[in-house]
Amino acid sequence: INMSKEIQNTTPRHVAIIMDGNGRWAKERRFPRLAGHRAGANAVERTIKAAKQAGVEFLTLYAFSTENWSRPQDEIDGLFKLLEQTLDRYAKDAAKHGVKLLISGSREKLPPAVLEKINKAITSTAQNTALTLNLALNYGARQEITQAVNTLLKQGKTAVSMEDISAALYQPALPDPELIIRTSGEERLSNFLLWQAAYSEFYFTPVLWPDFDENEFNKALTEYSHRTRRFGGI
Ligand code: FPP
Repeated sequence: INMSKEIQNTTPRHVAIIMDGNGRWAKERRFPRLAGHRAGANAVERTIKAAKQAGVEFLTLYAFSTENWSRPQDEIDGLFKLLEQTLDRYAKDAAKHGVKLLISGSREKLPPAVLEKINKAITSTAQNTALTLNLALNYGARQEITQAVNTLLKQGKTAVSMEDISAALYQPALPDPELIIRTSGEERLSNFLLWQAAYSEFYFTPVLWPDFDENEFNKALTEYSHRTRRFGGI
């Protein structure tokens, strides 16, 4: 038996976050829900900085799910407006931030103005190397897997391998996330990265998303570093 000492996990290459609790944060303050989302957008910027600082290479953020279309239209409009504003602000000095933008999700149904800004930002940030920010937008994991299988069928495949499916997902170049964080005390995956999460570690915190910051992010990384213990070399 190899009794050599425990080796800590290194920094995860890919962290994925379910940003939850904006509505409750606003409600606690008797603010409109959109004020919660606005505060949430600030938390997004803090988290991008923290991830870069920590040496995380890929950050996937669940910004809008396929199920979120059932929210009141004014909240949906407000969320997309916020996304546009954030993209504008960020795209201006994207080079300085070194962040490369990717999108996971269906482009169908996205407002044309949003789609245009996104495409621009993807192009203008394509050369950046500090951190890849993958925004899950109009994203659903079952939809992602289904479209992958349909893509393979259209290619004429009659049997598919796991590698085929992985290669037909929205962002096949991204490694699976080693760590998935969900804020606000909810402990479920909600149709997020079902395929990619097969071996992910989960970190749940009661902190509401607008209150999430570098300190909270680093707590999750520390917990992760102790999580999977490897005894001896692999
Ligand atoms: C969950 O809170 C959050 C969302 C559905 C949207 C996430 C959006 C942002 C963080 C802001 C904009 C994003 C970017 C990338 C600029 P909730 O509304 O479900 O909260 P609740 O469960 O407390 O009601």
